[in-house]
Amino acid sequence: MTHALYPGSFDPLHNGHLDVIERSSPLFHQLTVAVLHNPLKPSALFSLDVRLTILKESCNHLKNVDIKAFSGLLIDSLETFNANIIIKGLRNSSDYNYEWQMAHINRHLNPRAETLFILSDPAWSYLSSTRVRELASYQADISSLVPSASLKALNQKFGAA
Ligand code: PNS
Repeated sequence: MTHALYPGSFDPLHNGHLDVIERSSPLFHQLTVAVLHNPLKPSALFSLDVRLTILKESCNHLKNVDIKAFSGLLIDSLETFNANIIIKGLRNSSDYNYEWQMAHINRHLNPRAETLFILSDPAWSYLSSTRVRELASYQADISSLVPSASLKALNQKFGAA
């Protein structure tokens, strides 16, 4: 039984994230999308509940994908969720440099934890939640960049374009 964890802030989920989820899910028996809950850092645009709801709605068509919250160290959640693989999407070499360190740290903490990288689709390699939040705050049209559940939440937050 292969069980992978795809962790992130997902503030909010965008098309690049969803592409990684859709391409990863057939590779494992189960894929858990793990949403970071950091009560010490309340700077997220969307509450944990909203981020979870967006993901649940957007991944409803993927039967082996479940959505969970996690806090603290990712490596501890891996154990809690009974998973042993971490999935990370790579958009570019900056992502690689950052994730290279994370993968080694996590494997140092738990030698059974393997990180597998999946290359972002070039169509989404420039996309980030930060840019999505910024564009939405100016009421730019982001309907081609995010799933409909994210668009709805962003429109509620900032008003429709
Ligand atoms: O979507 P993001 O913000 O790039 O996701 C980052 C995330 C949640 C994967 C990362 O911050 C994380 O794993 N946080 C948990 C704390 C942790 O385990 N850190 C690694 C050792 S310093």
